[in-house]
Amino acid sequence: MVFYFTGTGNSRYVAKMIASAIGQEAVDITTYTKPMQRPEFTANEAYVFVCPSYMSAPARAITDFVDWAGFPSGIKAYFIVTCAASMGITPRVASEHCAKNDMVFMGAAQIVMPQNYIALFKTKSVEESIDVIEKAENDIDRISTLITNGEAIECKKISSVEYAVTKWVRDVYYKYFMSTKKFRVTDACISCQKCANACPVSCITMKDGKPTWSGSCTHCMACINKCPKDAIEYGKGSVGKPRYKGPKPGA
Ligand SMILES: Cc1cc2nc3c(=O)[nH]c(=O)nc-3n(C[C@H](O)[C@H](O)[C@H](O)COP(=O)(O)O)c2cc1C
Ligand code: SF4
Ligand code: SF4
Repeated sequence: MVFYFTGTGNSRYVAKMIASAIGQEAVDITTYTKPMQRPEFTANEAYVFVCPSYMSAPARAITDFVDWAGFPSGIKAYFIVTCAASMGITPRVASEHCAKNDMVFMGAAQIVMPQNYIALFKTKSVEESIDVIEKAENDIDRISTLITNGEAIECKKISSVEYAVTKWVRDVYYKYFMSTKKFRVTDACISCQKCANACPVSCITMKDGKPTWSGSCTHCMACINKCPKDAIEYGKGSVGKPRYKGPKPGA
């Protein structure tokens, strides 16, 4: 089974490609978290977890899921992180969660995909994004072969200094900056509700036909990127930037 969490579709795209290559199913973890309902595990197979990198480590949505789901003791786990540049300290974070849950850590790998963090960074044009995705496909094939063969993925060692500094920055960022405060809707909104439906953690409520934000936003950037009218802004950070509409159409 391949479990995935996604904001803008990159991780779903990668999860589906891996699932197809290894002959398993790809499942969105929000199937179990909206509302909360633990999965049933029927086989002691290897599990693959796919998610975006948020501040140099796997999105907490996936590690929280691993901690909560109650996987059978001794199962093998692979972590595949989609990122714009680097998975950072993912191998160490993922191996810690495996140890905590009595799972066998089989390694972690990064797949470089288009940037979606429009609140902070420049997003790519459609042509540039297609180019990045085509390059990623070789890495996806290589990793799928390792998983099919039951081989471990070799990971670089994370030094204690890199781990401690990154973890500190990440904790501060999650606590103080991953909030809904700067989201706003413009007059271009047509009240279609696509933003509310896209939110994986149910932070958006429609009031008088317009979205309002509250709760534990994970900054996945689904709402702002998926709005068909580009009617959502995040402070001044997103103004004038092309929205990232996700990987290849139909993925
Ligand atoms: C909150 C947030 C933090 C991010 N942090 C990183 C990061 O530390 N390193 C990186 O290379 N990409 C980072 N990115 C980019 C995403 O990891 C990348 O675009 C990913 O493929 C998006 O996956 P998704 O479409 O499945 O949501 C970040 C994106 C967001 C929204
Ligand atoms: S997706 Fe855009 S247009 Fe649709 S309700 Fe949300 S803000 Fe309005
Ligand atoms: S409100 Fe936050 S968690 Fe929900 S879709 Fe928007 S960025 Fe993602």
